[in-house]
Formats: sequence, C-alpha cells, structure tokens
Amino acid sequence: MELKSIIMAAGKGTRMKSETPKVLHKIMDKPLLGYILDNVKNLADESFVIVGHHAEDVEKFVKENYESARTVLQSPQLGTGHAVSMVCPYLENYTGQVIILNGDIPLIKEATLKKFIEYHNSINSDLTIMSAIFEDPEKLGRIIRDTDNSLKCIVEAKDATPEQIAVKEINAGIYCLNWDKIKPAFSQLKNNNAQGEYYLTDIIGWAKSQNMNVNAFILENNEEIYGINSRQHLAHAAKLMNNRKLIELMENGVTIVDPDCTWISDDTEIGQDTIIYPSTYLEGKNKIGKNCKIGPFAHFRGGVEVADNVKIGNFVEVKKSKIGSNTNAGHLSYIGDSELGSHVNIGAGTITANFNPITNVKNKTVLQDNVKIGSNAVLVAPVTIEEGANVAAGAVITKDIKAWALAITRAPLKVLENWVKKVSK
Ligand code: UD1
Ligand code: CA
Repeated sequence: MELKSIIMAAGKGTRMKSETPKVLHKIMDKPLLGYILDNVKNLADESFVIVGHHAEDVEKFVKENYESARTVLQSPQLGTGHAVSMVCPYLENYTGQVIILNGDIPLIKEATLKKFIEYHNSINSDLTIMSAIFEDPEKLGRIIRDTDNSLKCIVEAKDATPEQIAVKEINAGIYCLNWDKIKPAFSQLKNNNAQGEYYLTDIIGWAKSQNMNVNAFILENNEEIYGINSRQHLAHAAKLMNNRKLIELMENGVTIVDPDCTWISDDTEIGQDTIIYPSTYLEGKNKIGKNCKIGPFAHFRGGVEVADNVKIGNFVEVKKSKIGSNTNAGHLSYIGDSELGSHVNIGAGTITANFNPITNVKNKTVLQDNVKIGSNAVLVAPVTIEEGANVAAGAVITKDIKAWALAITRAPLKVLENWVKKVSK
C-alpha cells in the first residue's frame, strides 16, 4: 500500500526561548526535523512538512536536504487538526495510507514506525494511534477506552475530568490512517475545547462514531517518544540518543572505553574491534572501518570515511575526508576536504589549509599511498602529493609534489656560539 507522511512542525516552541524554530534545533549537528525525515524516508514515498513559525527557515532546510519532502504552510496555526487539514488539497484523490507525526520526537526509531504500520495493516485498521503508558503523564493527551477496552476517544489534559486525568495511557502523537476513509473528518473538526484549537486527536472519536476500525499500538520503550519543548529536554534527548548509539556499537563489537564522555552521532558507522577512546566527538555522517583507534579527544565533523587499521589520535579534527587503511594521524592535526591513501603518516601538528577566505572556496588535498608528512607541515590546498613522497617537518607546501620526492621549505639553521653568555654580561 502506498504511504505518505505528514510531519507537524508549524508550532512555535515557545519554551525553547529561541529565534530558531524548535524543529531546527540540533542534536549532534542534525536538526530534530532531520531525524524524523530520515526515519520516514524509507517508509513513505512522499513527506509533507507543515510549517508556520519561521516557515522560511524550515522550508530551506527541507528543500536543501530532502528531495521527497515538501513543505505546506499553515498560517495562522489553529491546532494539530488544522495543521493536517492543510495537506487535504494535495491528497484529494489519494487512496493510500498516511502516517502523521509530531516534529519534535527525534528518538522514534524507523523500526518502530515500521512495526506500527505493519500492525495497522495486519488488523485491517482504518485508524491506528501510537500510545504509551506513563506513570506521570502530565500534559499529554489521555487515551479513553470503552468498557470493552476498545478505543473511544482522546482527551487533552486541559479538557480532562479528574477521572480522565488519572488515566496513564497517553497519545504519543503518531497516527496511521487510511486516508480516503478518515479524510472527511478534517472538514468536520470543531474547536470548542479548552484551547480553542482544532485537535487532530478528535479524529479518533469521529472515526469511532462512523463505526470504523480504530486501534492503538502500545509502544514498548517510552524513550522513543521523548518530546522536546525546552533546552533541558534538548540536552536530555541528546544524552538518550547517544547512550542508545553507544550501546548499539558495543553490541556490535566496538570498544567504547568511557561511554560517559564519548559522543557518536546516530549516522556514524563503526567496524568491529575499533576502539574509541574517551572525549571523542563524532558528529554528522561518518563511516569508520575495523581495528581502528580513534581518540582520545578526536573530533569528526561529518563526511569522514576511514578504512581499516587507521589511527586518529588526540586533538585531530577531520572533516569531509577519506582516509585509507593503515594510515596514522596521531596528534594535533586538521584534515579537511582531503583524500589520504593507505600507509600515510601525518606528523604532529600537520594542517590541511583547505579554505580560501578570499574566494570562499574549499579546496582539496590529496595524499597518495605511503606519503609521509613531517611534523608541523602546512599543506595549502588544492594540492596533490604523489605516492611515497616525503614532506619535511615545518614545510609549507604550495604546489604538487611528485612521487618519491622530498619536499622541504626551510630557512637555514644558524648557530651563534656562546651568544647567551655574551648578551647577558
Ligand atoms: C499533542 C496531542 C496530544 C499528545 C501530544 C504528544 C493534539 C491536540 N494533542 O499535544 O494528545 O499527547 O501531542 O506529544 O494533537 N503543530 C502544528 N500546527 C499547530 C499546532 C501544532 O504544526 O497549529 C505541531 C507542533 O509544532 C508540534 C505538534 O504539532 O510539532 C504537536 O503540537 P503541540 O501543540 O505540541 O501538541 P501537544 O499539546 O503536545
Ligand atoms: Ca508537544
């Protein structure tokens, strides 16, 4: 069955106290909305992102990063039901399914969404919501069930009676629906509630009143729907996501020496028997091979591909670079927009000068197999150092170097005998 997704991201996110829209706040350099879009991109063939607050910024992010997603403006923002209704004109003749998600839940897993949709299909459901059991559900919408345990409706905390408020099963904010069946509900929603909003949650009561098949899929791990409303929540979500990632890596044979001070983005792949030393920070999308040693204090900024048996040591920053097998960059280096072959050695303090601030262009450095770079060299890109060439310590390399050559830029060393004694008389 065809599946499209709708992601609600028009809200203000007042508690973030920010000029940046909530869904563009980042965890490990990736906006919250990016997590959601990545999670649905293998499931849905098209995604609609509802934008409103700072719409232009969100539109720009979606356009630049997600081909199969489009934005739909909701202005003013009259509630979640109103938000989804904005998509109706685009799906007039659509007969497939739609999954709807809040934009601020980056921890939901693709596998969970997949299970959720499979559940919806397996029971021939018309409308399925994701629910979860919370000891203290605070402001979340409460799931109200009939005496036969079937779903009856969702009541928002602000509209709930004391009896309803005591319910521990809540609405996670993720819905799967057979579009052509539920679509009529959107023109019938009312805003006669405590917040004067058009609630998406009212489609449950509506579908029930039409004798449709309405169900809840109870989430096993509540962490996955941890919503972000403040900077504290953002920090906590990042911790949760990082812990989850580190556990997954360790389960797959990666040694994390100290999980309390290691940060690895969800988009980083690491091969077996690689050791990650403390205070390493790997953000963005990276791929690291087997038997590598990374850190302590290594920083990857994304787009980094590392082959097997590589050593990246302390205070080495790597960005958008490919590093061949058995290559070492042990200490105090910046490697950016580079391609390093295998068995390359990068001396301490080596810098690839990749950025030209006059032209604003980033240039490439290529070091072929077996190249050895002495300490404190500056490789001014664009530059290629061919196979086996050596660069002497302290050199500033401004042109290509042929294979097996030695490149050296060095003022002659002068020694003035007894100079110190003479001047300090
Ligand atoms: C919503 C649910 C609640 C559920 C909770 C889970 C409703 C009425 N209530 O409540 O049952 O327990 O999520 O987190 O849906 N948004 C828009 N346009 C709007 C309003 C909201 O795009 O006009 C977006 C927001 O940016 C946000 C999402 O919809 O991403 C949820 O909106 P929010 O106001 O946070 O709903 P909750 O009160 O949390
Ligand atoms: Ca919310």
